[in-house]
Amino acid sequence: MVELTLPAHSKVQTGVTHPAVAGTKNPRKFKIYRFNPDNNENPTLDTYTVDMDDCGPMVLDALFYIKNKIDPTLTFRRSCREGICGSCAMNIDGQNTLACLKATEDCHGDVAIYPLPHRPVVKDLIPDVTQLYAQYASIQPWLQTQTLPPPDKERLQSQDERKKLDGLYECILCFCCSTSCPSYWWNEERYLGPAILLQAYRWIADSRDEMTGERLDNLEDPFRLYRCHTIMNCTNACPKGLNPAKAIAEIKQLMVERRA
Ligand code: SF4
Ligand code: SF4
Ligand code: FES
Repeated sequence: MVELTLPAHSKVQTGVTHPAVAGTKNPRKFKIYRFNPDNNENPTLDTYTVDMDDCGPMVLDALFYIKNKIDPTLTFRRSCREGICGSCAMNIDGQNTLACLKATEDCHGDVAIYPLPHRPVVKDLIPDVTQLYAQYASIQPWLQTQTLPPPDKERLQSQDERKKLDGLYECILCFCCSTSCPSYWWNEERYLGPAILLQAYRWIADSRDEMTGERLDNLEDPFRLYRCHTIMNCTNACPKGLNPAKAIAEIKQLMVERRA
């Protein structure tokens, strides 16, 4: 039976309000989801005060302020701090986005921060993305050929062929799109979701790849591809300005064309 409320152990409870650092001049409140799998307690929403005069402009800067000056137990992923690695994806001010690209001044009121939705939580702001990577592996995301390469040069593309990869190769696998997709929420075991389908199309669209038929065969399934109902949450969520819904539509179009 469909469960319409959160399981009791998942309900978020009011947490600790941490005192501001002494001498704070320009306070801004952050309300942050906390969950520790080791203590067998419900998640909480803890409140922190950040001195914006002593902190960089991005939400990731505020998370570092909190970790370094108030609460070293706060746990989150990050690496590049410039929108390239995809690891700081989280739900900020009600939207899936990258903490390193989201300016605190663009958030409304107290800044609410949760992990990406509809994923098991490893700890605090860290979602478990194991399944998404397994689905990524299933589309075999590498160039595959059957012919031998030219003996004296690389496999080349024309400029027009290369242009077909624009809007696809930039994907950083942050999963802001897949975790905002209602079809993925309800069918995550069988539907590949927008991030993985955009990646699948990236290889289908590559003129050097010679396994297009096999790649389409792999997606020809009522769930893996066709659970997309063009709701467009994915495209609205992408912090890199990509359009996974369009990539999915392109795959569906190729499916139609090869049947004709
Ligand atoms: S367009 Fe498709 S993939 Fe994107 S949010 Fe809607 S159902 Fe999900
Ligand atoms: S399409 Fe955009 S939102 Fe989705 S994984 Fe790639 S970069 Fe992230
Ligand atoms: S830290 Fe790499 S994308 Fe934000």
